[in-house]
Amino acid sequence: MEKVNLDWENIGFSYRPTNTRYVSAYKDGRWSAGQLTEDANIVISESAGVLQYAQTIFEGLKAYTTKHGDIVAFRPDLNAQRLNDSAKRLEMPIFSEEQFLNGIEQVVKANAAYVPPYGSGATLYLRPFMYGSSPVIGVRPAEEYQFRIFSTPVGPYFKGGAKPLTLCVSEFDRAASRGTGHVKAGLNYAMSLYAGVTAKRNGFDENIYLDSATRTKVEETGGANFLFITKDKKVITPKSDTILPSITRRSLLYVAKVYLGLEVEEREVYLEELADFVECGICGTAAVLSPVGKVVDRDQEICFSSGMEKMGEITQKLYDTLTGVQMGDIVAPEGWIREIIKA
Ligand code: PLP
Ligand code: COI
Repeated sequence: MEKVNLDWENIGFSYRPTNTRYVSAYKDGRWSAGQLTEDANIVISESAGVLQYAQTIFEGLKAYTTKHGDIVAFRPDLNAQRLNDSAKRLEMPIFSEEQFLNGIEQVVKANAAYVPPYGSGATLYLRPFMYGSSPVIGVRPAEEYQFRIFSTPVGPYFKGGAKPLTLCVSEFDRAASRGTGHVKAGLNYAMSLYAGVTAKRNGFDENIYLDSATRTKVEETGGANFLFITKDKKVITPKSDTILPSITRRSLLYVAKVYLGLEVEEREVYLEELADFVECGICGTAAVLSPVGKVVDRDQEICFSSGMEKMGEITQKLYDTLTGVQMGDIVAPEGWIREIIKA
């Protein structure tokens, strides 16, 4: 397969349109069969549900080239399931897992020239999304929807790659109790933009959001979940009903337990205990597992003993094992790697 001519090591995390995307339309209670299109633009009513009341949900997953030259996707079935959890919460129609996986396969096959080569550190990011396309003016769900998947080649989400991040505790909240924080709705990201831009303007890489009910517990960042490592090498992750259940986190916890024999605990994590941890990382499809070196809470600085130069020892082991499993260096658990094009 002839690849497009890109500087794979330096493409960064930005939107670069590829040739072909997948589209299926929902009308009269049914999804259409779905097809590929070259048209990256969408024409919809000025009063479409997505434009007026933000009725839109999305997913993010990666396709990449393994050590053996196969093109695969990582656990796309879990993205299909989470998309439907989001759909239910926003009164949108269910999209079958089978059709979702078929759409992924078609998009990756059609854009194989954009799947970065093994070892480049880049991947083909897949963005499935669904939105209300028919007009609404009273506040209610749309009657018609579109489901689409586009793809774009990406490098690391954070510019410094594996350089530890500095986070600040946000004065804004990301998710209300009993709100939509646990689903992947566009509205969660729209309302985080002001907080995110403010954090960057103040020199931080990202925000830490606290639970909105008590503002004492650590939730997540704008686009990734937390992992903390204790002095005795235990992996701790925040338990909360208002964070997005990360597929990367679920995979890392399994890797920690089964591959590395580490003790793992999902529990409430208080802001005031952060100083007790020795390492911190944030995980997600885009972030993979990025180390955090420092957290700033107003005039207080919490510096993890892993420092500002490199990943902590356990974070590094978790990163190496997960990426080893993804890339085919380490045998993956059954069902994690979905083969799309055999070498
Ligand atoms: N938390 C938020 C708010 C996210 O947007 C994401 C990204 O999808 C994650 C966590 C990580 O989830 P995943 O590992 O499934 O990509
Ligand atoms: C992902 O990791 O796929 C996300 O959707 C997070 C976003 C910050 C890019």
